[in-house]
Amino acid sequence: MSHATENKQTVLNSRFIALKICLTVIESGRSLSQSLPEGLAQFSDRRERNFTQNLVIGTLRWQARLEAIRAQLLKKKLKDKDEDINQLILIGLYQILYMDTPEHAAVSETVAVVQKLKKPWAKALVNGVLRNFIRDQQAICDEVDLKPAQKYSHPQWLFKALRKGYPEEWQEIMQANNEIAPLTLRVNTIQQTREAFLEKLNNVGIQASAHPTAPQGVILENSTDITQLPTYEEGGFSVQDGAAQQAANILQPKAGERILDACAAPGGKTTHLLELSNNQALVFALEKAPERMERLAENLHRLELHADYAVGDASIPDEWWDQQLFDKILLDAPCSATGIIRRHPDIKWHRTEEDIETLVEIQGAILKALWPTLKPGGQLLYATCSVLPQENTLQMQNFIESEPSASVIPLTLETTLTFETPGNQYLPGRSGMDGFFYCLLQKSL
Ligand SMILES: C[S@@+](CC[C@H](N)C(=O)[O-])C[C@H]1O[C@@H](n2cnc3c(N)ncnc32)[C@H](O)[C@@H]1O
Repeated sequence: MSHATENKQTVLNSRFIALKICLTVIESGRSLSQSLPEGLAQFSDRRERNFTQNLVIGTLRWQARLEAIRAQLLKKKLKDKDEDINQLILIGLYQILYMDTPEHAAVSETVAVVQKLKKPWAKALVNGVLRNFIRDQQAICDEVDLKPAQKYSHPQWLFKALRKGYPEEWQEIMQANNEIAPLTLRVNTIQQTREAFLEKLNNVGIQASAHPTAPQGVILENSTDITQLPTYEEGGFSVQDGAAQQAANILQPKAGERILDACAAPGGKTTHLLELSNNQALVFALEKAPERMERLAENLHRLELHADYAVGDASIPDEWWDQQLFDKILLDAPCSATGIIRRHPDIKWHRTEEDIETLVEIQGAILKALWPTLKPGGQLLYATCSVLPQENTLQMQNFIESEPSASVIPLTLETTLTFETPGNQYLPGRSGMDGFFYCLLQKSL
């Protein structure tokens, strides 16, 4: 095989694999975090893998804007059975708009994928749409960007919910949702100080800095394979966003305290609670999904920490509670995950407005069921990685109104929004952090 042919096959393969991953996510509704590693596993070349990854994430991130552009160019939507051709057009548009790929290569290599799909009729169509876009790019984008849901590539319901919840900040939030999140680590302070870890990173040429608001946090300048970083094997650090790192810092776990981590897997916050108490807090980690619990057990093992744990439903304490009251409870509730869209752009297309109502009910039911397991004078920290007020401040307001023994302990958390209703809201992107919500509740004596 000549070198030229080899190269051509490589380029073709990247776009074809990218298409397959996008289809799995959009058509089959599978998560990107599952589909992407599976799809990328077949690449041995790092550059090829990175190119494909960027192409997939970008096409999914900008799906609604690209789809609106496609609708300008091809008025009649393709049939459902030809969603592969539709996604291929979006992949082509993404390269032209957002990547460094020369336009002629973006068109020819994208068109070449049609052969693999055994739909020869689509070759001229894909070619024509992409060439027409190159010709009229500016005018088409101007027209598409008149509608905010298209401009910022969000589903209409989510755009409306954000505008209603955040009359001042909705554009900032949608923009941040389309940005690439930094890789943030949390130092295991039982094993090393943050300064010592930064020095070790520096010694191997990794650019990193102390997180501006998370005391154990480190931000890496560039994304990297974390398993290759110093102290990974020994459990010297974990990957965790700066906003998520606030949970254990707010709860301030102490030696001997009985702490329930009610929705615990994969254990990011369980392990942080243990690290901050020098592995001395008596943490009980509960999780409903058995397969996720396995990851929690692996993380405890790698970080050399100890917690008791069980698979169970937090809304049914009779199944798992030994009747001994907890000093503190962390409820990191199942939620819409609308605060972490920049890391998981598929959330925009998988989540529906109806899901939010269901989630609000589940969160309320868990909260109500856990409250009796908390000691008088004890604290419950409610957390979500959502930015939707129904799951956050309004959920807290409802709870306080229905539960006379509950009061709010106001928190001072840098860069958060506060409201007339309870809790602190992190917005995505501010200080490099994810969108997150915290509300600390206290039970009266
Ligand atoms: C936001 S995630 C937790 C992340 C975790 N706290 C961390 O920091 O690594 C929410 C978890 O709650 C679990 N979950 C959902 N419903 C639950 C229930 N009724 N009882 C217990 N866990 C539940 C989900 O499987 C999921 O693992």
